[in-house]
Amino acid sequence: MPLPESFIQELKVRSDLADLASNYVSLKHSGKNLVGLCPFHSEKSPSFNIYPENGSFYCFGCGVGGDVITFVRRIENLDYMEAIRFLAQRAGMQVPEAEVDDGMAKLRTRVLEINRETARYYYSVLNSEEGRGGREYFAHRALKPETIRHFGLGFSPASRFALVNLLEKKGYTQNEMVLANVAFQSRSGRAVDRFFGRAMFPIIDLRGNVVAFGGRTLGDDKPKYLNTSETPVFNKGSMLFALNFAKNVNSQRLILCEGYMDVIALHQAGFQEAVATLGTSLTSAQARLMARYAKEIVICYDSDAPGQKAASRAIPILREAGLIVRVLTVAGGKDPDEYIKANGPLKFKQLLDDCGNDVEYRLQKARLGLNLQNPEQRVEYLNAAASILSTLENRIEQEVYAGRLAQEAGINTSTVMNQILAYGKKNRKKQLKKQFKSVQQQTAGLRDRVNPEKAGNLRAAGAEESLIAHILKFPESAKKIAEVLPPEKFITEFNRRVYAIIVGRITNGNTAGLAELSQELNMDEISSVARMLAAQDGISLTWPDVQEYISVISQENDKKIMSRDDSLQAEDIEDYLNRLRQQKK
Ligand code: GTP
Ligand code: MN
Repeated sequence: MPLPESFIQELKVRSDLADLASNYVSLKHSGKNLVGLCPFHSEKSPSFNIYPENGSFYCFGCGVGGDVITFVRRIENLDYMEAIRFLAQRAGMQVPEAEVDDGMAKLRTRVLEINRETARYYYSVLNSEEGRGGREYFAHRALKPETIRHFGLGFSPASRFALVNLLEKKGYTQNEMVLANVAFQSRSGRAVDRFFGRAMFPIIDLRGNVVAFGGRTLGDDKPKYLNTSETPVFNKGSMLFALNFAKNVNSQRLILCEGYMDVIALHQAGFQEAVATLGTSLTSAQARLMARYAKEIVICYDSDAPGQKAASRAIPILREAGLIVRVLTVAGGKDPDEYIKANGPLKFKQLLDDCGNDVEYRLQKARLGLNLQNPEQRVEYLNAAASILSTLENRIEQEVYAGRLAQEAGINTSTVMNQILAYGKKNRKKQLKKQFKSVQQQTAGLRDRVNPEKAGNLRAAGAEESLIAHILKFPESAKKIAEVLPPEKFITEFNRRVYAIIVGRITNGNTAGLAELSQELNMDEISSVARMLAAQDGISLTWPDVQEYISVISQENDKKIMSRDDSLQAEDIEDYLNRLRQQKK
């Protein structure tokens, strides 16, 4: 059952998009609209627009757009009903729950409940006779009891059915346990515990839900860590371990580690701004997430080769999210956990305060293994260094390092600077080429997955989109337009569907805006409609304009009918002749 109209209307009125979005994006006024850096992709100049006039947003960089509900869905990673609840809570409204059917939200709630029960169970096992191995392991890793409690660490017992049996008694189905990925289906079809005999690390999201687990073997068997795979509540590339605690520190700095144990050891030592990825390399979604809570990231990966390689990979991703990056390398210890254990928190604090920024780190890497006394290797180093410096945005920064390099190599600063600028030009050319290509593809409609027919019907689709934007902006014009142009006349299937929904709603006396459409369209489809609105921002069609578009669509229709090679239907011919007569009038 759909939500009542009156509820949606009130929710819409009480949920101002600009107001909400400003919690996530820093927005500036630009005429009657607002612009900012897009929260949905990494960019350096703002292409994210908010149009208060019709409550929509659109990003010209990544093509994402929609209304306030779509915005919440995307930024908080929620489904439709969850977004409605989120907004209702914010607006102090009660969702008429009984009337809605939201299978996905219910399933997510079940999975979250299972996770909570599971975390509680593993925690209790750790403190029971069965948990001796786990307790000894954590003691050996020098974790204090309060640290174990704080992180809710636990132990999964060796038995293969302990958890499944417990959850079954509590009323959860085996199917739900498998979906939550705390159990797997054996060949016999019976659900079996996924984790057994492992030290358990619950992964908690920003709202305090247990969304996943990492389980470490106590011995040397493989895999060392077994992690929850994708579930309805967990996507490992968009979450960070311990961010639920780190975000409260408010230090504007986060320490990014590789492993759960590093983070836990750092928190225990008083560095509660430490977070870690979940066993995968850093994604740009994670970088943007960090940028919401910090300005600066200190990368603190293992000092071995894979750790350093991962650090080099993470730097540009963090920079793209607008973060200042520094790199801390723990010498004489494999990882921060071991370093703290061996040297204590004070020494680590010193490393933290003294560690260099990413530029220094990258320059140091480029110099590694090169003999600067050898002219060839010196040139190699200078070129590599200039290439690194060419990626910096800040000219002052470039000059400072150019000066240092010049001194190091015994040449002029201006020579180094020229080389940097030459590389910079090359980079920009590459960038422009890439951008141009993507714009070209977009304008040709080649990449319009939402409306694949657009590519073959550019003229008609253009007219259709203009009309859709027009009636969204001026609903009172819908009736008049629909009389001359019923939905079945639309050429492309997607636009026809959107037009039919809008016209249908208005004819029934309902409102039709993006928020109403977002009940019936998926998020890519909403983006597409938001694009139509954005394209017509500041443009008001006159009635002759509208007539022109209508006639374009009619002409394209006629072309289609006449070119159909199967025999013409009698009604089609009748229709065509009628229209010719009308046009003459
Ligand atoms: P220990 O100190 O040995 O307990 O581990 P660590 O936390 O220092 O982890 P390590 O540096 O070995 O690995 C870093 C992170 O990568 C871990 O915290 C896990 O998230 C992940 N990881 C390590 N081994 C595996 C594995 O075998 N499988 C998966 N999926 N992830 C792993
Ligand atoms: Mn370790």
